[in-house]
Amino acid sequence: MSSDAVKKITFRVQRFDPEKDRKPHFQEFIVPVKRGTTVLEGLLYIKENLDSSLAFRTSCRMGVCGSCGMLINEYPHLACHTQLEEFHADRLTLKPLPNMPIIKDLVPRLETLFEHHKSVKPYIIRGDNAEMEKPTAGYIQKPHELDEFLQFTYCIKCGLCIAACPTSASDLAFLGPQALGQAYRYCADSRDEGQDQRYQIVEKDHAVWNCHFAAACSEACPKGVDPALAIQLLRKGVAAKALRVKKTTAPALLATSLPQAKPKIDVPEFTVKQK
Ligand code: FES
Repeated sequence: MSSDAVKKITFRVQRFDPEKDRKPHFQEFIVPVKRGTTVLEGLLYIKENLDSSLAFRTSCRMGVCGSCGMLINEYPHLACHTQLEEFHADRLTLKPLPNMPIIKDLVPRLETLFEHHKSVKPYIIRGDNAEMEKPTAGYIQKPHELDEFLQFTYCIKCGLCIAACPTSASDLAFLGPQALGQAYRYCADSRDEGQDQRYQIVEKDHAVWNCHFAAACSEACPKGVDPALAIQLLRKGVAAKALRVKKTTAPALLATSLPQAKPKIDVPEFTVKQK
């Protein structure tokens, strides 16, 4: 398709208004699209020109905020990150993310995702409480220590991994790939001392041992995060704790505990010299 050619695509959108409808139904809209048009732009066209009552979430429109997750032709995608050309089709079916209650149309209720995320203590835990309360310096972290968990920091909490997960589909209490991935992200952080607290949470029922390792979460993640890998590594940590295998590395030191080397930077000629 040339950049300015316009094609018509049928959007078959699941509608559900809990105040009016007893169950979801589908409604079709014809949307003009050009090369590069995203699914989100198609939905915005519907809202602005055809039916202003259509409900969906969006904010950043650039794959960062995680608001616009939905099922597009039965697979979880970010609507803003998905171009219509990818489907090579004249019809698209749009549904809200599964494994979550629906608020309206394409808007799922995400509270459980955030509660599960919060439950795994997704923050640095240290024994030095005074430093945590009133930080005086950063903690030292080497590049290879950052590499241990960096990819897991890219999670945008869009819920696509949960929508793809067969265990989340059959067990609503399952912590899910997002929360378990973030539990590992903090356990693997060399600045953190909260592994034991998190292991106690994830070794309970509906958590790390309930994953069937379908790895659908990792395939669906739009940011390249691999929650299935995180869950396997988390299992390794929980098992090591049960076997009383001690961690051999000490937690990261405060930057103030290192001798401060002065950076060697030549002062450019034009700089006014300080007396
Ligand atoms: S609108 Fe922010 S990720 Fe799609």
